[in-house]
Amino acid sequence: MLPATERLLLGPGPSMISPRVMRAMSAPMLSHLDPQFVDIMDDMRARLARVFQAPEGSFAFAVSGTGTSAMETAIANLVQPGTRVLCIVSGYFGDRLAQMSQRYGGDVRRLDVEWGRACDPDAVKRALQDGGADVVTIVHAETSTGVLNPVKDIAAHAHAAGAVVVVDAVTSLGAMPLDVAGWDLDVVYSCSQKGLGAPSGVAPIVFAPRALEKRVPCRSFYFDVGLLEDYWVRRKYHHTMCASLIYALREALMVVEEEGLQQRWERHERHHKMLLAGLAEQNLSVLPPQGERLWTLNAVRVPAGVDEAVVRKRLLQTYNIEVGAGLGPLAGKIWRIGLMGTGSTPALVTLCLAALQHCVAGERAVTAGRM
Ligand SMILES: Cc1ncc(COP(=O)(O)O)c(C=O)c1O
Repeated sequence: MLPATERLLLGPGPSMISPRVMRAMSAPMLSHLDPQFVDIMDDMRARLARVFQAPEGSFAFAVSGTGTSAMETAIANLVQPGTRVLCIVSGYFGDRLAQMSQRYGGDVRRLDVEWGRACDPDAVKRALQDGGADVVTIVHAETSTGVLNPVKDIAAHAHAAGAVVVVDAVTSLGAMPLDVAGWDLDVVYSCSQKGLGAPSGVAPIVFAPRALEKRVPCRSFYFDVGLLEDYWVRRKYHHTMCASLIYALREALMVVEEEGLQQRWERHERHHKMLLAGLAEQNLSVLPPQGERLWTLNAVRVPAGVDEAVVRKRLLQTYNIEVGAGLGPLAGKIWRIGLMGTGSTPALVTLCLAALQHCVAGERAVTAGRM
C-alpha cells in the first residue's frame, strides 16, 4: 500500500519535498539525449554551478546515484594506487571516505578527530608537514555528529602542501554557507535529498579547474569524469539518465535561487536556533559545542535513563515524525533532528519540540513505573 499521509521527515535525510518539486517529476518522460532534455540538463548545470558558487572553468553536473555515488566519483578520479591521501575522520562519513580511498588503492593516512568535535586546521597543517599528501578529504557537515568542519582553512593548508581537497557537502549544500570559488575548494559533492529538497537519486558534484588537471586514470567506467563530460557536454551516450530526477533537481534548484542563497542560509540558522532554545527549556542539549554546530542536523543528547529507540518509535507512531538514531559510537546516545530545505520551518520546529517533550515524558513515566 502506498503511504496515505505525508511523513514529517525531520531526520538526517531525506528531507521533505515541496509539492512543486513532486509535480515536476510527473512531466512527460524524455530520453537522455532528446534535444529538449539536453536543454534542461544545461539549465540544471548552470543553476548547480551558481548554487555551488563554482569558479570559472569548473565542471558541475549530477551523478546518477545518491550522495555515495558522488563521493565515489570524487575518489575514483583523484586516487590511484600509491596516491597519498590524508583522510580527516571526525565521524561516520569521514570514515567512509577513508574506506573508499583505500579501495581505490590510495596510500591512506587518517587524521582521527573526536566524534562531536570539529577538526582543528592546525592539526591538518601538522599532519601535512609530517607526511605530505596528494589528496585531502574532509566532510564539511558531518551528519553523524552534527558538526561543521572549517573546510576553507583546511583547503588552504592542503594547497600549501601541494594537495587537492575533496569536500563532502552532502548535508550543507543549499542550507549552510558554502562557496567553492571563494574558499578555493577543488572537488565538492552533495546529494539531492537534504538541503536542496529533491528526492534522492542524482548527486550534484563540481570539479574545479585544479581538480580537473589532477585527475588520474579512472578505474570505474560509470564514475569516469572524462566519460561523464562526454555525455553532459558533448552529448555522447554514456548511460540512460533518469529525466524525472533531473526535472526534480532542476525545480529544487529554481526554488533555492528564487529564495536566494543568503536568505536560505539565514532561514536554516534561525530555525536551528529556535530548536536549540526549545530544547534548552526541556533541559536538552546538543553534542557539538557552540561554533561547531550544523544548522541542518542537530545531534540531541539522550537524557540519562531514557531509551532513545522507544522515544523515536513513539514520535513516528504518534506524531508521524521521523528523527534519526545515533551511528557508531553515538548509537543510543543521540537523536538526530534534521531541519533541512522544505523541512526548516517554525511550524515544524514547534511541533517537533512539543512531540519530543511528550514522548520523553511518556518514556520517563514508564521507566519510573518499572522501578
Ligand atoms: C555527510 C554525508 N556524506 C555522504 C552520505 C551518503 O549519501 P547517500 O546516503 O545519499 O548515498 C551521507 C548520507 O546521509 C552524508 O550525510
